[in-house]
Parts: sequence; structure tokens; C-alpha cells
Amino acid sequence: MSEQTTFPRWIPLLGGLLGSTTCGLLLYAFSVFIKPLQAQFGWSVMDVALAYAIICLIFGLMTFPAGRLSDKFGPRNVVLIGGIIMAAGFFLVSTITPPAKEIVAAALAPNADAAAKAALQAVNQKPLWLLYLFYGVIAGFGGGCVYLPPIATAPKWWPDRRALATGFTVVGLGLGSFIMAPLAVSMINSPDIGNGSALPVFKYVGIAMFILVVIAAFCLKVPPAGWKPAGWNPPAPAGGAGAAKATRDYTYEETKKTPQFWLLWVAYFCGSFAGLMVIGLLAAHGIDAMTAAYKTLNSVTTVPADEVKKIAMAAAGAPSVLAIFNALVRVLIGPIADKLGGTKVIFVTLFTLQVAAMLVLFPVGKSAVLLAVCAALIGWNYGAMFTLFPATTLQYFGASAQGSNYGLLFTAWGVAGFAGVFSGGYLRGLTGSYLTPFVVSAVLVAVAVIILATMKAPEKKHA
Ligand code: 2OP
Repeated sequence: MSEQTTFPRWIPLLGGLLGSTTCGLLLYAFSVFIKPLQAQFGWSVMDVALAYAIICLIFGLMTFPAGRLSDKFGPRNVVLIGGIIMAAGFFLVSTITPPAKEIVAAALAPNADAAAKAALQAVNQKPLWLLYLFYGVIAGFGGGCVYLPPIATAPKWWPDRRALATGFTVVGLGLGSFIMAPLAVSMINSPDIGNGSALPVFKYVGIAMFILVVIAAFCLKVPPAGWKPAGWNPPAPAGGAGAAKATRDYTYEETKKTPQFWLLWVAYFCGSFAGLMVIGLLAAHGIDAMTAAYKTLNSVTTVPADEVKKIAMAAAGAPSVLAIFNALVRVLIGPIADKLGGTKVIFVTLFTLQVAAMLVLFPVGKSAVLLAVCAALIGWNYGAMFTLFPATTLQYFGASAQGSNYGLLFTAWGVAGFAGVFSGGYLRGLTGSYLTPFVVSAVLVAVAVIILATMKAPEKKHA
């Protein structure tokens, strides 16, 4: 028996879990760095947010070449090289030298004069470009190379449970962010590690990422051609004309010529843009709405300091609940999709619920409990996309070119992430209310519902 046939097929699942966890460490806890970086370097929120927008764009766009390379050279090499680049970029952020404390303090003081601001401006721009380069460009480049190959590899070992296997390769995005947010906060606050600075977090987590990603890479390889699990046979083609003919997978060239592929791209873009925009605004909306409700209820114009803290804590619960459901759904939805043998019904149901959740988000903001319930629903529907879109790509076009196909499809998330990070704040600023970005999000998801509900699977290709 060859070594390949005795390779336990849970190992690529472990590779996917570890690889996606490093991506979770990289991406979804970035908000905890914003305030410490601002305080240390004197950057504005938008300065720091741009680093996040860049990483979304580069990460999302890199999945395409990463998928192509993975189909050609195998997932191990791509994840190994990409992972080392990702860990190096993340680690390098820790080497950025902050401006002297006195310069930052003078420029951020309420009565700061133009000279103090100019002095800070002269010294905090180069570190900002380094943040964009190390975190946004280098770590984003490597991250895209780590994210995609396991998604294309694990289902090849699990033709009988493809959606479940896909879920395992993306669940770490939720897990990683879940670990990273409290870990980073405690490291920043620890007098022995950060002492208020976020920079050491990048050093230690960068080293941990390196170790995790090397193990992940060695867990990944593609099964030999024609491999299938013992005792399992592919389901017989559905009845009707041509059912007896053997079918084959779409090539990448054939896939990108189908209208279905580009309709999926638009639906993915709409779902991601709306989801990312809402996630970015959730906590701030809760604070605004609960503050306004407190003032009305108590007929006051200012809120006491201890109440301000309580409201901030209550509002912070919403993104945490969202993160939990965003992680859980990724594996829980897989078996359902596998059982139904398709994703359409689930997609349409979840996206319709997403439209409803986004429409009620504005009025429920004043109640911490209702806001958390709504956030859970939004996290659930958002996270489901990262299992359902790759599963749909597999269902429509087959597993052979999944790296290239899904790599190209995932660029929708990268573009949406870049645009979504800015649009939420912009729409809120333009209209002075969170209602507008929430309604825009609901409309975008409704477009995705129409696409997904009316789309027909492409014809099977005959061998
Ligand atoms: C995900 O959450 C990276 O957004 C992508 O899986």
C-alpha cells in the first residue's frame, strides 16, 4: 500500500484548522490594536483603519494566485512560503520605532499648537507607512496564501462530506479572532510585556504564527488522482437525458466563462460588503442608541461616568457574540449542506434572515439583549458564507480546479473588505445616523438573495 493511501484524511482537516487559525490571529482582532497604536504613535483612527483596509484587499486578492499555485504546485509549498511571509510581516510590526512620548503628548494635548502637531507629523508618517507595508502588504500577501489552499485541499479528501471539510478549513478565522482579542488585550496591559504598547504582541504572536503555519503546511497534501474513501462511491448522476454519461469537473478556464461564476462573485461581494460594514459599526451603534435611551428615560442631557462604562461594556457584548456565532456556523452548516446535497435553500434562507436582521438592527440598538441576539444572527449568516460559497463552487464546478476557481471568487471579499471599512463611517458621517449604512447593507444582501434564489446550477460537463 502506498504512503499516500495510508495518509489519515483527518490530517488535512487539522492543517486547515491551524492555517485558518493563524489567519484569524492576523485579521479579525485588529480593532483591539487601534487605540494603543493611536496613543503610542499619535495616528488618527482613519490612519490605523487604512492598515486594515489594505490587509483585507491584499489578503483577498492574493487568494487568487495562491489558489492557482496550489492547484499547480500543491498546497504545502504555497502555505509554507506564504505562512513564513505572513509571520514575518506580522513580526516586523514589532520593530517599528514609535516617536518620543513627549512629542506625541504635546501634539495630542487639547491645547496643542500647530508647531506641536507639525513636529508629530514629521516623525509619525514613516512608521505609518511601515505599518501599511509590514501588516497590510507583507502579512496580507502571506495570509492570502495560507487561507486558500486548505479550502481547496480538504474537500478532496472528503468527497463524502465536502461542506463539512470546507467548514473545518475556515473555522479558525473565528477561533483565531476569539483567542487573539483577549490575548492581545492582556499582553498590551501586562506590565512585563506591553505595558500599554501593542508592539510586543506582534513579536510574540508573529513567532506563534510561524510555528502554527509550518505545522499546518506539513498537514496538507492532495490525494492521489482517483482516490476515494474506502467503501464510498460517488452518487449516481440524477435521472434524465444524458444521465448515463460520465461527467467531469469544469476547468478553471471553463469556470470563469460561466455566468453563474460571476453571479456568485456579485452575491459574495454584496454579502461581504454588508457584513463587514455592519460588523465595524455594531458596537458604536449600541453605545449611541443606549446612551440616547438612557437620556430619554432619565430626562437628562449628560450620562454619569459609571453609566457610560456600563453602556460601553453592554455594547461590547454584541461583537463578541457575533464572533462566537461567526465561528460556530462554519462547521455546523457543513453537515446540513452535505445532507441536502446543495446550498441553495440554506443560502436563500440565511440571506433572507440577514436582510431582516440588518433592518431591525437600528431599532434594537437601545437594548443590550436584543442587540446581542441580532448580532448573533448577523454573525451566523455572515460566517456561513465562508463554508457555503466554497461548497457551492465545488458543487457547480467540481474539485479539480477548486483552488483557482474559489481563489478568484474570494477576491470579492477582498474588494468588499477594502470598500466596506470606509463606507460604514462615511455613510454614518454623511447622514448622521447608523440607519443609512444598515439599510444600504440590507438592500445589498437583498440583491444577493435575488441572485442566489434565481440562479441555476451550470450544466454538467461530459467526459
Ligand atoms: C473569513 O472570515 C477571511 O473573511 C474571511 O473566512
